[in-house]
Amino acid sequence: MPSSLSGRARQNDIYTAGIHGRTPVVPTDFDELERRARAKMSDRAWAYIAGGAGAGRTMAANRRALDRRAIVPRVLRDVSERTLQTELFGDRLPAPILFAPVGAGDLVARGADRLIGHAAAELGVPYIFSNQGGVAMEEVAAEMDRVRPGAPRWFQLYWSTDDDLVDSLLQRAESVGASAVAVTLDTTMLGWRPHDLNIGSLPFARGEGIAQYTSDSRFNEIVSERAVQGSSERPEISLGALRTLVNIARNTPGSLLRNIIRPEPRVGVQTFLDIYSRPSLSWTQIEGLRERTSLPIVLKGVLHPDDARRAVDTGVDAIIVSNHGGRQIDGSISSVDALAAIAPVVDGRIKVLADSGIYSGADVFKVLALGADAVCIGRPHMYGLALAGSDGARDAVANIIAELDLTLGLAGHTSVDELTPEALATVA
Ligand code: GLV
Repeated sequence: MPSSLSGRARQNDIYTAGIHGRTPVVPTDFDELERRARAKMSDRAWAYIAGGAGAGRTMAANRRALDRRAIVPRVLRDVSERTLQTELFGDRLPAPILFAPVGAGDLVARGADRLIGHAAAELGVPYIFSNQGGVAMEEVAAEMDRVRPGAPRWFQLYWSTDDDLVDSLLQRAESVGASAVAVTLDTTMLGWRPHDLNIGSLPFARGEGIAQYTSDSRFNEIVSERAVQGSSERPEISLGALRTLVNIARNTPGSLLRNIIRPEPRVGVQTFLDIYSRPSLSWTQIEGLRERTSLPIVLKGVLHPDDARRAVDTGVDAIIVSNHGGRQIDGSISSVDALAAIAPVVDGRIKVLADSGIYSGADVFKVLALGADAVCIGRPHMYGLALAGSDGARDAVANIIAELDLTLGLAGHTSVDELTPEALATVA
Protein backbone atom coordinates (compact mmCIF):
# COMPACT_ATOMS: atom_id res chain seq x y z
CA MET A 1 0.00 0.00 0.00
CA PRO A 2 1.45 3.45 -0.85
CA SER A 3 2.28 5.00 2.53
CA SER A 4 -0.12 7.94 2.06
CA LEU A 5 -2.99 5.43 1.93
CA SER A 6 -2.03 3.56 5.07
CA GLY A 7 -4.16 4.58 8.02
CA ARG A 8 -1.23 5.05 10.39
CA ALA A 9 0.79 7.12 7.91
CA ARG A 10 -2.18 9.35 7.28
CA GLN A 11 -2.83 9.80 10.99
CA ASN A 12 0.83 10.62 11.51
CA ASP A 13 0.82 13.19 8.71
CA ILE A 14 -2.25 14.89 10.15
CA TYR A 15 -1.04 14.87 13.76
CA THR A 16 2.41 16.08 12.71
CA ALA A 17 0.86 19.01 10.84
CA GLY A 18 -1.17 19.67 13.97
CA ILE A 19 2.03 20.21 15.94
CA HIS A 20 2.69 23.12 13.59
CA GLY A 21 -0.81 24.44 14.04
CA ARG A 22 -2.21 23.16 10.74
CA THR A 23 -5.49 21.28 10.66
CA PRO A 24 -6.93 19.35 7.69
CA VAL A 25 -8.76 21.47 5.12
CA VAL A 26 -10.88 18.42 4.36
CA PRO A 27 -12.48 17.21 7.59
CA THR A 28 -11.89 13.55 8.33
CA ASP A 29 -15.53 12.65 9.10
CA PHE A 30 -18.48 12.92 6.76
CA ASP A 31 -20.77 15.11 8.86
CA GLU A 32 -18.22 17.88 9.27
CA LEU A 33 -17.12 17.47 5.64
CA GLU A 34 -20.68 17.97 4.50
CA ARG A 35 -21.29 20.91 6.84
CA ARG A 36 -18.22 22.78 5.65
CA ALA A 37 -18.84 21.97 2.00
CA ARG A 38 -22.39 23.31 2.28
CA ALA A 39 -21.01 26.70 3.29
CA LYS A 40 -18.89 26.79 0.13
CA MET A 41 -21.49 25.58 -2.36
CA SER A 42 -24.07 27.58 -4.26
CA ASP A 43 -27.73 26.74 -3.61
CA ARG A 44 -27.97 25.08 -7.01
CA ALA A 45 -24.86 22.96 -6.44
CA TRP A 46 -26.06 21.96 -2.99
CA ALA A 47 -29.52 21.03 -4.26
CA TYR A 48 -28.13 18.86 -7.01
CA ILE A 49 -25.33 17.12 -5.10
CA ALA A 50 -26.81 16.75 -1.62
CA GLY A 51 -30.45 16.35 -2.62
CA GLY A 52 -32.26 13.04 -2.86
CA ALA A 53 -35.58 11.90 -4.27
CA GLY A 54 -38.82 12.95 -2.58
CA ALA A 55 -38.60 13.36 1.17
CA GLY A 56 -35.14 11.77 1.30
CA ARG A 57 -36.35 8.46 2.72
CA THR A 58 -34.02 6.38 0.54
CA MET A 59 -31.00 8.39 1.60
CA ALA A 60 -32.04 7.87 5.22
CA ALA A 61 -32.62 4.15 4.59
CA ASN A 62 -29.11 3.84 3.15
CA ARG A 63 -27.69 5.18 6.37
CA ARG A 64 -30.04 3.19 8.62
CA ALA A 65 -29.10 -0.08 6.92
CA LEU A 66 -25.43 0.61 7.61
CA ASP A 67 -26.15 1.60 11.19
CA ARG A 68 -28.13 -1.60 11.74
CA ARG A 69 -24.96 -3.56 11.02
CA ALA A 70 -22.23 -3.54 13.62
CA ILE A 71 -18.63 -4.61 13.23
CA VAL A 72 -17.69 -7.38 15.66
CA PRO A 73 -13.94 -7.12 16.24
CA ARG A 74 -11.68 -10.09 16.85
CA VAL A 75 -8.55 -9.63 18.98
CA LEU A 76 -5.01 -10.99 19.32
CA ARG A 77 -4.57 -11.86 15.65
CA ASP A 78 -1.37 -10.01 14.60
CA VAL A 79 -2.63 -7.35 12.23
CA SER A 80 0.73 -5.61 11.73
CA GLU A 81 0.75 -6.36 7.98
CA ARG A 82 -2.44 -5.53 6.11
CA THR A 83 -3.49 -5.22 2.51
CA LEU A 84 -6.42 -3.48 0.90
CA GLN A 85 -5.28 -4.31 -2.61
CA THR A 86 -7.63 -5.86 -5.05
CA GLU A 87 -7.95 -6.45 -8.78
CA LEU A 88 -10.81 -5.40 -11.04
CA PHE A 89 -10.86 -6.04 -14.78
CA GLY A 90 -7.10 -6.22 -15.02
CA ASP A 91 -6.41 -3.12 -12.92
CA ARG A 92 -4.54 -3.55 -9.65
CA LEU A 93 -6.24 -1.19 -7.19
CA PRO A 94 -4.71 0.12 -3.95
CA ALA A 95 -8.09 -0.36 -2.26
CA PRO A 96 -11.50 -1.72 -3.30
CA ILE A 97 -12.77 1.79 -3.92
CA LEU A 98 -13.75 3.80 -7.00
CA PHE A 99 -14.75 7.40 -7.60
CA ALA A 100 -18.45 7.17 -8.52
CA PRO A 101 -19.67 9.06 -11.58
CA VAL A 102 -21.32 12.33 -10.58
CA GLY A 103 -22.96 14.51 -13.19
CA ALA A 104 -22.83 18.29 -13.52
CA GLY A 105 -19.76 18.60 -11.30
CA ASP A 106 -19.09 22.06 -12.75
CA LEU A 107 -21.74 23.29 -10.35
CA VAL A 108 -19.20 22.59 -7.62
CA ALA A 109 -15.96 23.57 -9.35
CA ARG A 110 -15.23 24.55 -12.93
CA GLY A 111 -13.56 21.63 -14.75
CA ALA A 112 -14.68 19.27 -11.96
CA ASP A 113 -14.21 16.09 -13.98
CA ARG A 114 -10.62 17.02 -14.84
CA LEU A 115 -9.91 17.86 -11.20
CA ILE A 116 -11.40 14.60 -9.98
CA GLY A 117 -9.54 12.65 -12.67
CA HIS A 118 -6.32 14.23 -11.44
CA ALA A 119 -7.18 13.24 -7.85
CA ALA A 120 -8.08 9.68 -8.79
CA ALA A 121 -4.88 9.26 -10.78
CA GLU A 122 -2.82 10.49 -7.83
CA LEU A 123 -4.34 7.76 -5.68
CA GLY A 124 -4.40 5.10 -8.42
CA VAL A 125 -8.11 4.66 -7.68
CA PRO A 126 -10.38 4.23 -10.72
CA TYR A 127 -12.56 7.15 -11.77
CA ILE A 128 -15.85 6.30 -13.43
CA PHE A 129 -16.36 9.12 -15.93
CA SER A 130 -19.89 10.43 -15.83
CA ASN A 131 -21.87 10.43 -19.05
CA GLN A 132 -23.20 13.71 -17.63
CA GLY A 133 -19.73 15.19 -17.15
CA GLY A 134 -18.68 18.76 -17.83
CA VAL A 135 -15.40 17.84 -19.53
CA ALA A 136 -15.04 15.53 -22.53
CA MET A 137 -13.74 12.10 -21.57
CA GLU A 138 -10.69 12.50 -23.83
CA GLU A 139 -9.55 15.53 -21.83
CA VAL A 140 -10.07 13.84 -18.48
CA ALA A 141 -8.20 10.75 -19.65
CA ALA A 142 -5.30 12.91 -20.88
CA GLU A 143 -5.14 14.65 -17.51
CA MET A 144 -5.07 11.31 -15.70
CA ASP A 145 -2.32 10.03 -18.00
CA ARG A 146 -0.25 13.11 -17.22
CA VAL A 147 -0.40 12.24 -13.51
CA ARG A 148 -0.07 8.47 -13.84
CA PRO A 149 0.08 6.93 -17.32
CA GLY A 150 -2.69 4.36 -17.68
CA ALA A 151 -4.37 5.41 -14.41
CA PRO A 152 -7.56 3.33 -14.24
CA ARG A 153 -10.80 4.84 -15.53
CA TRP A 154 -14.24 3.53 -16.46
CA PHE A 155 -17.07 5.08 -18.40
CA GLN A 156 -20.66 5.36 -17.17
CA LEU A 157 -23.27 5.21 -19.91
CA TYR A 158 -26.85 6.41 -20.13
CA TRP A 159 -28.48 4.49 -22.94
CA SER A 160 -29.69 7.13 -25.36
CA THR A 161 -32.71 6.74 -27.61
CA ASP A 162 -30.20 7.07 -30.47
CA ASP A 163 -28.27 3.80 -30.82
CA ASP A 164 -25.61 5.42 -33.00
CA LEU A 165 -24.87 7.83 -30.16
CA VAL A 166 -24.53 4.87 -27.79
CA ASP A 167 -22.06 3.26 -30.20
CA SER A 168 -20.12 6.48 -30.54
CA LEU A 169 -19.84 6.92 -26.76
CA LEU A 170 -18.77 3.29 -26.34
CA GLN A 171 -16.16 3.63 -29.04
CA ARG A 172 -14.78 6.77 -27.42
CA ALA A 173 -14.69 5.01 -24.03
CA GLU A 174 -12.64 2.22 -25.58
CA SER A 175 -10.30 4.76 -27.21
CA VAL A 176 -9.60 6.57 -23.94
CA GLY A 177 -8.62 3.29 -22.28
CA ALA A 178 -11.67 2.64 -20.11
CA SER A 179 -11.39 -0.65 -18.25
CA ALA A 180 -15.17 -1.15 -18.16
CA VAL A 181 -18.47 0.44 -19.09
CA ALA A 182 -21.05 0.88 -16.34
CA VAL A 183 -24.54 1.13 -17.81
CA THR A 184 -26.86 2.98 -15.46
CA LEU A 185 -30.24 1.26 -15.40
CA ASP A 186 -32.09 3.25 -12.78
CA THR A 187 -32.25 6.63 -14.49
CA THR A 188 -34.29 6.07 -17.61
CA MET A 189 -36.01 9.22 -16.33
CA LEU A 190 -34.86 11.63 -13.66
CA GLY A 191 -36.40 10.99 -10.25
CA TRP A 192 -38.66 13.47 -8.44
CA ARG A 193 -36.11 15.74 -6.76
CA PRO A 194 -37.70 18.50 -4.68
CA HIS A 195 -34.36 20.17 -3.88
CA ASP A 196 -33.84 20.93 -7.58
CA LEU A 197 -37.53 21.30 -8.43
CA ASN A 198 -38.18 23.88 -5.72
CA ILE A 199 -35.54 26.19 -7.15
CA GLY A 200 -36.33 25.31 -10.76
CA SER A 201 -32.79 24.11 -11.38
CA LEU A 202 -31.92 21.40 -13.86
CA PRO A 203 -28.19 21.77 -14.63
CA PHE A 204 -28.45 20.11 -18.05
CA ALA A 205 -31.06 22.63 -19.19
CA ARG A 206 -28.35 25.29 -18.72
CA GLY A 207 -25.78 23.31 -20.65
CA GLU A 208 -24.06 22.04 -17.50
CA GLY A 209 -23.05 18.38 -17.56
CA ILE A 210 -23.49 17.71 -21.26
CA ALA A 211 -19.86 17.83 -22.43
CA GLN A 212 -19.75 14.14 -23.42
CA TYR A 213 -22.53 15.01 -25.85
CA THR A 214 -21.35 18.34 -27.22
CA SER A 215 -17.96 16.72 -27.90
CA ASP A 216 -19.53 13.80 -29.76
CA SER A 217 -19.63 13.69 -33.56
CA ARG A 218 -22.86 11.69 -33.72
CA PHE A 219 -24.57 14.00 -31.24
CA ASN A 220 -23.48 17.06 -33.18
CA GLU A 221 -24.78 15.49 -36.37
CA ILE A 222 -28.24 15.16 -34.77
CA VAL A 223 -28.03 18.74 -33.49
CA SER A 224 -27.12 20.11 -36.93
CA GLU A 225 -30.10 18.36 -38.51
CA ARG A 226 -32.43 19.71 -35.83
CA ALA A 227 -30.95 23.21 -36.04
CA VAL A 228 -31.76 23.37 -39.75
CA GLN A 229 -35.29 22.02 -39.24
CA GLY A 230 -36.13 24.28 -36.27
CA SER A 231 -34.30 27.49 -37.18
CA SER A 232 -37.58 29.40 -37.58
CA GLU A 233 -38.68 28.69 -33.97
CA ARG A 234 -38.49 31.75 -31.69
CA PRO A 235 -37.65 30.98 -28.05
CA GLU A 236 -39.52 32.91 -25.33
CA ILE A 237 -37.43 35.92 -24.24
CA SER A 238 -36.99 36.76 -20.54
CA LEU A 239 -34.09 37.86 -18.37
CA GLY A 240 -33.77 34.35 -16.97
CA ALA A 241 -33.80 32.84 -20.45
CA LEU A 242 -31.06 35.22 -21.58
CA ARG A 243 -28.94 34.30 -18.59
CA THR A 244 -29.47 30.63 -19.38
CA LEU A 245 -28.55 31.27 -23.00
CA VAL A 246 -25.21 32.77 -21.97
CA ASN A 247 -24.64 29.84 -19.63
CA ILE A 248 -25.34 27.37 -22.40
CA ALA A 249 -23.04 29.29 -24.75
CA ARG A 250 -20.28 29.24 -22.15
CA ASN A 251 -20.66 25.49 -21.67
CA THR A 252 -20.51 24.73 -25.38
CA PRO A 253 -17.15 24.35 -27.14
CA GLY A 254 -16.21 27.38 -29.31
CA SER A 255 -16.37 31.15 -29.06
CA LEU A 256 -18.84 32.59 -26.56
CA LEU A 257 -20.21 35.24 -28.91
CA ARG A 258 -20.70 32.82 -31.77
CA ASN A 259 -22.36 30.34 -29.42
CA ILE A 260 -24.84 33.02 -28.34
CA ILE A 261 -25.77 33.85 -31.92
CA ARG A 262 -25.94 30.42 -33.56
CA PRO A 263 -28.84 28.06 -32.74
CA GLU A 264 -26.79 24.88 -32.20
CA PRO A 265 -25.93 25.34 -28.48
CA ARG A 266 -29.59 25.90 -27.58
CA VAL A 267 -30.72 23.11 -29.86
CA GLY A 268 -27.99 20.93 -28.34
CA VAL A 269 -29.45 21.31 -24.87
CA GLN A 270 -32.94 20.47 -26.11
CA THR A 271 -31.58 17.51 -28.06
CA PHE A 272 -29.79 16.25 -24.97
CA LEU A 273 -32.97 16.49 -22.92
CA ASP A 274 -34.90 14.63 -25.61
CA ILE A 275 -32.51 11.76 -26.24
CA TYR A 276 -30.09 11.24 -23.35
CA SER A 277 -31.95 8.30 -21.87
CA ARG A 278 -34.38 5.66 -22.94
CA PRO A 279 -37.38 4.81 -20.77
CA SER A 280 -38.02 1.75 -22.94
CA LEU A 281 -34.64 0.23 -22.02
CA SER A 282 -34.97 -3.52 -21.48
CA TRP A 283 -32.88 -6.67 -21.24
CA THR A 284 -32.90 -6.80 -25.05
CA GLN A 285 -30.43 -3.91 -25.28
CA ILE A 286 -28.24 -5.40 -22.54
CA GLU A 287 -28.21 -8.77 -24.28
CA GLY A 288 -26.98 -7.06 -27.45
CA LEU A 289 -24.36 -4.94 -25.70
CA ARG A 290 -21.63 -7.55 -26.02
CA GLU A 291 -21.74 -7.08 -29.80
CA ARG A 292 -21.37 -3.32 -29.41
CA THR A 293 -18.30 -3.20 -27.17
CA SER A 294 -15.28 -5.21 -26.15
CA LEU A 295 -15.28 -3.60 -22.70
CA PRO A 296 -16.32 -5.52 -19.58
CA ILE A 297 -19.98 -4.70 -18.93
CA VAL A 298 -21.17 -3.52 -15.54
CA LEU A 299 -24.86 -2.98 -14.77
CA LYS A 300 -25.40 -0.15 -12.32
CA GLY A 301 -28.58 0.17 -10.32
CA VAL A 302 -29.49 -3.47 -9.59
CA LEU A 303 -31.51 -3.92 -6.37
CA HIS A 304 -33.55 -7.11 -6.79
CA PRO A 305 -32.02 -10.60 -6.50
CA ASP A 306 -33.93 -11.75 -9.61
CA ASP A 307 -32.40 -8.92 -11.64
CA ALA A 308 -28.98 -9.89 -10.28
CA ARG A 309 -29.62 -13.49 -11.34
CA ARG A 310 -30.67 -12.33 -14.78
CA ALA A 311 -27.54 -10.18 -15.04
CA VAL A 312 -25.40 -13.23 -14.33
CA ASP A 313 -27.35 -15.30 -16.87
CA THR A 314 -27.00 -12.54 -19.47
CA GLY A 315 -23.23 -12.79 -19.17
CA VAL A 316 -22.36 -9.32 -17.91
CA ASP A 317 -19.17 -8.96 -15.91
CA ALA A 318 -20.39 -7.11 -12.83
CA ILE A 319 -23.27 -5.34 -11.18
CA ILE A 320 -23.35 -2.29 -8.97
CA VAL A 321 -25.97 -2.60 -6.26
CA SER A 322 -27.13 0.99 -6.10
CA ASN A 323 -30.12 3.23 -5.62
CA HIS A 324 -28.27 6.14 -7.21
CA GLY A 325 -27.43 7.72 -3.88
CA GLY A 326 -31.14 7.85 -3.03
CA ARG A 327 -31.74 10.27 -5.92
CA GLN A 328 -34.24 8.30 -7.96
CA ILE A 329 -37.05 6.76 -5.89
CA ASP A 330 -38.23 7.96 -2.50
CA GLY A 331 -38.75 5.02 -0.15
CA SER A 332 -36.60 2.55 -2.06
CA ILE A 333 -34.80 -0.38 -0.47
CA SER A 334 -31.38 0.63 0.79
CA SER A 335 -28.47 -0.56 -1.30
CA VAL A 336 -26.98 -2.32 1.73
CA ASP A 337 -30.14 -4.36 2.42
CA ALA A 338 -30.32 -5.15 -1.29
CA LEU A 339 -26.67 -6.23 -1.27
CA ALA A 340 -27.30 -8.58 1.65
CA ALA A 341 -29.93 -10.36 -0.46
CA ILE A 342 -28.05 -10.21 -3.76
CA ALA A 343 -24.52 -11.28 -2.79
CA PRO A 344 -25.53 -14.89 -1.93
CA VAL A 345 -27.48 -15.16 -5.19
CA VAL A 346 -24.54 -14.02 -7.29
CA ASP A 347 -22.28 -16.23 -5.20
CA GLY A 348 -19.03 -14.96 -6.67
CA ARG A 349 -19.94 -15.73 -10.29
CA ILE A 350 -19.49 -12.07 -11.30
CA LYS A 351 -18.14 -9.04 -9.48
CA VAL A 352 -20.52 -7.18 -7.19
CA LEU A 353 -19.97 -3.52 -6.38
CA ALA A 354 -22.14 -1.25 -4.27
CA ASP A 355 -22.73 2.43 -3.69
CA SER A 356 -25.22 4.86 -2.11
CA GLY A 357 -24.69 6.33 1.32
CA ILE A 358 -21.21 4.90 1.84
CA TYR A 359 -19.35 7.71 3.55
CA SER A 360 -16.57 6.29 5.74
CA GLY A 361 -13.96 3.56 6.01
CA ALA A 362 -16.15 1.75 8.54
CA ASP A 363 -19.04 1.87 6.04
CA VAL A 364 -16.80 0.38 3.36
CA PHE A 365 -15.75 -2.40 5.75
CA LYS A 366 -19.41 -3.33 6.33
CA VAL A 367 -20.26 -3.32 2.64
CA LEU A 368 -17.27 -5.50 1.78
CA ALA A 369 -18.22 -7.88 4.60
CA LEU A 370 -21.70 -8.18 3.13
CA GLY A 371 -20.16 -9.45 -0.10
CA ALA A 372 -19.20 -6.48 -2.26
CA ASP A 373 -15.92 -6.70 -4.14
CA ALA A 374 -15.57 -2.91 -4.21
CA VAL A 375 -17.54 0.25 -3.47
CA CYS A 376 -18.05 3.59 -5.23
CA ILE A 377 -17.80 6.85 -3.32
CA GLY A 378 -19.87 9.82 -4.53
CA ARG A 379 -20.86 12.73 -2.27
CA PRO A 380 -17.70 12.66 -0.11
CA HIS A 381 -15.39 13.40 -3.02
CA MET A 382 -17.74 16.11 -4.32
CA TYR A 383 -17.65 17.79 -0.92
CA GLY A 384 -13.87 17.51 -0.84
CA LEU A 385 -13.86 19.10 -4.30
CA ALA A 386 -15.99 21.97 -3.00
CA LEU A 387 -13.54 22.61 -0.18
CA ALA A 388 -10.17 22.22 -1.86
CA GLY A 389 -10.50 21.38 -5.55
CA SER A 390 -8.56 18.38 -6.80
CA ASP A 391 -6.63 17.96 -3.54
CA GLY A 392 -9.90 18.01 -1.66
CA ALA A 393 -11.45 15.27 -3.79
CA ARG A 394 -8.29 13.22 -3.31
CA ASP A 395 -8.15 13.78 0.44
CA ALA A 396 -11.80 12.89 1.00
CA VAL A 397 -11.22 9.48 -0.58
CA ALA A 398 -7.76 9.02 0.97
CA ASN A 399 -9.35 9.56 4.39
CA ILE A 400 -11.91 6.84 3.70
CA ILE A 401 -9.16 4.46 2.60
CA ALA A 402 -7.08 5.27 5.70
CA GLU A 403 -10.03 4.61 7.99
CA LEU A 404 -10.77 1.37 6.14
CA ASP A 405 -7.19 0.22 6.73
CA LEU A 406 -7.34 0.96 10.45
CA THR A 407 -10.81 -0.54 10.83
CA LEU A 408 -9.69 -3.71 9.05
CA GLY A 409 -6.76 -4.18 11.43
CA LEU A 410 -8.61 -3.14 14.56
CA ALA A 411 -11.37 -5.62 13.73
CA GLY A 412 -8.77 -8.39 13.53
CA HIS A 413 -8.33 -8.81 9.77
CA THR A 414 -5.35 -8.40 7.51
CA SER A 415 -6.93 -8.45 4.06
CA VAL A 416 -10.16 -7.18 2.55
CA ASP A 417 -10.51 -10.55 0.81
CA GLU A 418 -11.06 -12.22 4.20
CA LEU A 419 -14.17 -10.27 5.06
CA THR A 420 -17.45 -12.20 5.31
CA PRO A 421 -20.83 -11.44 6.91
CA GLU A 422 -19.47 -13.11 10.05
CA ALA A 423 -17.48 -9.94 10.72
CA LEU A 424 -20.83 -8.22 11.39
CA ALA A 425 -23.78 -8.49 13.74
CA THR A 426 -27.23 -7.11 13.08
CA VAL A 427 -28.35 -4.73 15.78
CA ALA A 428 -31.77 -3.23 16.49
C1 GLV B 1 -27.60 11.89 -12.89
O1 GLV B 1 -26.91 10.95 -12.88
C2 GLV B 1 -28.23 12.39 -11.75
O2 GLV B 1 -28.29 11.67 -10.72
O3 GLV B 1 -28.68 13.52 -11.79
